[in-house]
Amino acid sequence: TQGCKLVGCGSAVPSLNISNDDLSSIVETSDKWIYERTGIHNRRVLSGKDSLTGLSEMAARRALEMAQVEPDDVDLILMCTSTPEDLFGSAPQLHVKETIRASGCKNSPLSYDITAACSGFVLGLLSAACHIRGGGFKNVLVIGADSLSRYVDWTDRKTCILFGDAAGAVVVQACDGNEDGLFGFDFHSDGEGQKHLNATMREDNDQEDVLGTNGPAADFPPKRSSYSCIQMNGQEVFRFAVKCVPQSIESALGKAGMTSSDVDWLLLHQANQRITDKVSEKLQIPSERVISNLANYGNTSAASIPLALDEAIRSGKVQPGHTIAASGFGAGLTWGSTIMRW
Ligand code: ACO
Repeated sequence: TQGCKLVGCGSAVPSLNISNDDLSSIVETSDKWIYERTGIHNRRVLSGKDSLTGLSEMAARRALEMAQVEPDDVDLILMCTSTPEDLFGSAPQLHVKETIRASGCKNSPLSYDITAACSGFVLGLLSAACHIRGGGFKNVLVIGADSLSRYVDWTDRKTCILFGDAAGAVVVQACDGNEDGLFGFDFHSDGEGQKHLNATMREDNDQEDVLGTNGPAADFPPKRSSYSCIQMNGQEVFRFAVKCVPQSIESALGKAGMTSSDVDWLLLHQANQRITDKVSEKLQIPSERVISNLANYGNTSAASIPLALDEAIRSGKVQPGHTIAASGFGAGLTWGSTIMRW
């Protein structure tokens, strides 16, 4: 059977660092409160001419270099983001930067966006595996990138302390079935929980009534819309994560014929250190086998898993042959896990 495996990773973060002390100058909070409740000290935020597409391109280039895959040999780009810079999707823009500009338009890979908040990247891995196994694709670039700083209410201390911006990428490549390095998928969603975490569409009320009374109907044309800031019930999200994530990882391990003692590294979406600690405790995975870089970057949504994975691989923590249990969870609500062998 057709297998698939990760052959490269890369990441990129904006240069502007915002520390907890910086935040305490705009909302009533402190480094002590934030660090004790979340494990976060710093986060990076897009500024000036930075763009999320630009960060994603940088992360993708680094992943392709490590994988020794030419941009022209990529046949699918999956951009996992909930904050695209074009409502119609950002992935084709990466295709322009990665492929056409680099090589003179020899190849026009399929590219599209996946929206699943903090579960986006692991869902991208599932999609890459399905495309390779069922669709004959060979080299899939999976990018997780988000800029939640653009949707945060910077006067709301309950949410603004949590989030940062980043991009991470991996190359998933077709291989022999006996070398398979991506398996044990377990995915779920629960729309009932959307009330606990969302950034919903709202009408822009300042739009002029351009047609006056001459339109075909009183409420025509529809008002132009934009998205409201992130609304979150932190305690409910916390409870959901601590309950559902261990179950999902156990299910993914079961599908892979493994138990938590086979896991070299636990890699969770970086949301809150207390969530990571509780999940690893439930799974009986000791903290020395848990990857965490939340202190430096905060919650970077779909980017958090590939960003932490890239750091752990480049620092030599994760070695070839190691088994990683990864799990994403967040708005939707959505959650899902996969087992990877590096
Ligand atoms: N600084 C100081 N005090 C604060 C702050 C702050 N930044 N934020 C809240 N407080 C206060 C509250 O006002 C409250 O005070 P009160 O008791 O006088 O009313 C008190 O601290 C406790 O507030 P809680 O909201 O109960 O604090 P909690 O311990 O639950 O921590 C937190 C809040 C950190 C948000 C936590 O609930 C959490 O991390 N939840 C998970 C959230 C998460 O991971 N979301 C992202 C999911 S991923 C995605 O898809 C985007």
